Amino acid sequence: MERSISAWRCRRTAKVAALVFCAIFALLRIQQETLASVDDGGLLFNCSNIAEININTRNVHGKGVTKHAFLGRYHGSHVLVKMVTGTGYDVTRCLSSNRSSTECYAWANMKLLKEIMLHLELRHASLVQLLGFCVRSEETEALSLSEHGIIGVYEYAVPLTNVESWSLSTRLTSAWELLDLLSYLEQSPLGSLLVADLKRSHLLLRPPHSIVITDLDDVTSVEPKCSSNGSCDHNVKCRNGRCSGHNARHNLLRFHSVLLSDMLHCNTNSSIKQNTSSVCHNLSIGHGSASAIQSQLSTLLRGLNENSDGEFRRLNFLLAE
Ligand SMILES: Nc1ncnc2c1ncn2[C@@H]1O[C@H](COP(=O)(O)OP(=O)(O)O)[C@@H](O)[C@H]1O
Ligand SMILES: [Mg+2]
Repeated sequence: MERSISAWRCRRTAKVAALVFCAIFALLRIQQETLASVDDGGLLFNCSNIAEININTRNVHGKGVTKHAFLGRYHGSHVLVKMVTGTGYDVTRCLSSNRSSTECYAWANMKLLKEIMLHLELRHASLVQLLGFCVRSEETEALSLSEHGIIGVYEYAVPLTNVESWSLSTRLTSAWELLDLLSYLEQSPLGSLLVADLKRSHLLLRPPHSIVITDLDDVTSVEPKCSSNGSCDHNVKCRNGRCSGHNARHNLLRFHSVLLSDMLHCNTNSSIKQNTSSVCHNLSIGHGSASAIQSQLSTLLRGLNENSDGEFRRLNFLLAE
């Protein structure tokens, strides 16, 4: 009995994945045709020129859970190419559980399509930039860019190292920009978005000091279901059967533990900590909104009296926008 239920569940999951895949696939084809005919939407690549990017498919730059990332070169500049391959974790795990190859590729490709769609909808400087995409089919065995089924091309960002050693004003400004992203995600056109799978490797650097986020395929606008106030994580209220404000608070706490705490020297006894302790405290308990904490950072930056510092001018520019 249990076996037949789980077989039924598997069949149902496969059908739902296939349906979602087809819907996204159709939407993207329409969107791509529209982009080509009306305006290129700022995208550099589509199926007609994507093969002009040079990549070495034997040299994987980043192995994710679902996609492989390859470093590409286009007219002397670096770009980042994402594709689902047969050796990715999700596909191999799915194949080892006796599912069909079509089903396993469809699920992984649906996630890449979802990521591309989110990039088309969302606009924020702290999201890695989508430079183009090509949707040919869900057939993905071939790795060549002239044949591969679904390909995303992004700006190339470098690994984020040594943030802790940046100057105080640079760190405060970059933290302000990340909080601005969280504030945007909370109010996004798609609803309040949860960055469900944030890892340090998803936070990259656009030189010299802009931190950008990659990997949107697990982002969701759904807040968890609840039956009473006590049943929500992060002490948020249960409203109309949903934990209202859960996504925004989860993002705040997660960004704090993955990066902001180090950036603001929250766990050291340095003199800098005296400046940031109230911000650190609010972040560590998820108190207040991202925009309220941004205001605290702005006040701190003004107080630093660093008018001659280039980073301070950058913040003034951002605040004036
Ligand atoms: N734009 C980029 N520039 C440089 N490296 C990137 C970029 N996007 C992703 N990467 C690297 O590739 C890895 C895999 O990509 P990701 O989108 O996280 O895949 P997955 O969703 O399968 O986990 C990332 O963890 C990151 O290290
Ligand atoms: Mg992912």
